[in-house]
Amino acid sequence: MPQPLRKTLAITALAAGLLASPLATSHFVEEETLQSYRQSWFAMVAMNFGPMVSMLKGEMPWDEQRLATWSEQLEQLTAMDISRGFSPGSEQGTTRAKPEIWENRADFDAKLQDLREASVALQAAVAGGERKAIAAAIQDTGKTCKACHDEYKSDNYLY
Ligand code: HEC
Repeated sequence: MPQPLRKTLAITALAAGLLASPLATSHFVEEETLQSYRQSWFAMVAMNFGPMVSMLKGEMPWDEQRLATWSEQLEQLTAMDISRGFSPGSEQGTTRAKPEIWENRADFDAKLQDLREASVALQAAVAGGERKAIAAAIQDTGKTCKACHDEYKSDNYLY
């Protein structure tokens, strides 16, 4: 990484109080910016998708307002191109990303696209307001997470 960018990132992290927090070690490591970048993105994806699953399971009251917010945010997050987070050179480090990602990149990218499309459909279902359709769309989205994790995400850190 060019020095000026590295310095800017460090200053930003300092300004945000990140260096003093435990998050700094888990989600923003200066030596592993790409790994941190993708992991932070997955954390945001999970924070918007997870509660919808909790509602579906009845662990949380069904709330269309909150569903609307989370499904919109999920749709916006997944519209973002996260492929840069899987750039060459980021294969190792503090990561659960399996090496197979870089061997089957087209398949991995297709699975990312499946998540993107499922998120668009989920947001549309929530906007439609029909509970059965929303439930089905949450399940369909969850299947896209699982399909990728089964092949490309390890349960534990790999290195
Ligand atoms: C195209 C593949 C793919 C899809 C789709 C996908 N994931 Fe992941 N996920 C990964 C990989 C690979 C990692 C490991 C990243 C790393 O450790 O560098 C990961 C990591 C995570 C993490 C851990 C982040 C951290 O803090 O390190 C969470 C949480 C997560 N995913 C949730 C989800 C949820 C929820 C969905 C669906 C809404 C989803 N993922 C869809 C591949 C995927």
